[in-house]
Amino acid sequence: MTRVLFVCLGNICRSPLAEGLFMEKLKRGGLETKYIVDSAGTSNLHEGELADLRTRENARKNGIELLTRSRPFSKQDFVAFDLILTMDRSNYANVMKWEPAFVNQVAQVKMMRDFDLRSPGADVPDPYFGGDQGFQNVFDILDQSTEELLKYLEGRPNKYG
Ligand code: 4NP
Repeated sequence: MTRVLFVCLGNICRSPLAEGLFMEKLKRGGLETKYIVDSAGTSNLHEGELADLRTRENARKNGIELLTRSRPFSKQDFVAFDLILTMDRSNYANVMKWEPAFVNQVAQVKMMRDFDLRSPGADVPDPYFGGDQGFQNVFDILDQSTEELLKYLEGRPNKYG
């Protein structure tokens, strides 16, 4: 079982979409039982809320239904997950502040776009304060990055060879 956690700031725009897209690809490949997938925010500003309406509507337009509720990242996530994928450098720095929390930590922490063939290591832009085009841009980035992530985790040819 591989446990994957997607992390952004509010857990209402980018990370719930990454979770939904990754789940969709697992289902399509008949791989759901091999993975535990979740998402979290480095802030608790939107705790308990559904994903942002604009994110949900854009995802639905692209065939993905998002039903998750925002929850804050916790230091327990370092032992509950094998791989933590942060959406931008600020989320990465915030997660890393917790890092020495456990000696038995299992999680590796990486940037989501370490798996983006077009812009490796870049930030997934925060669409919260922007227009509709920002949401489709985030969808396209996460669609491609989660596809490459799955290839990597399944040991198929991927950007690392
Ligand atoms: P997310 O987007 O980190 O992708 O969920 C944001 C959501 C809310 C806020 C910022 C970014 N906010 O400032 O409330």
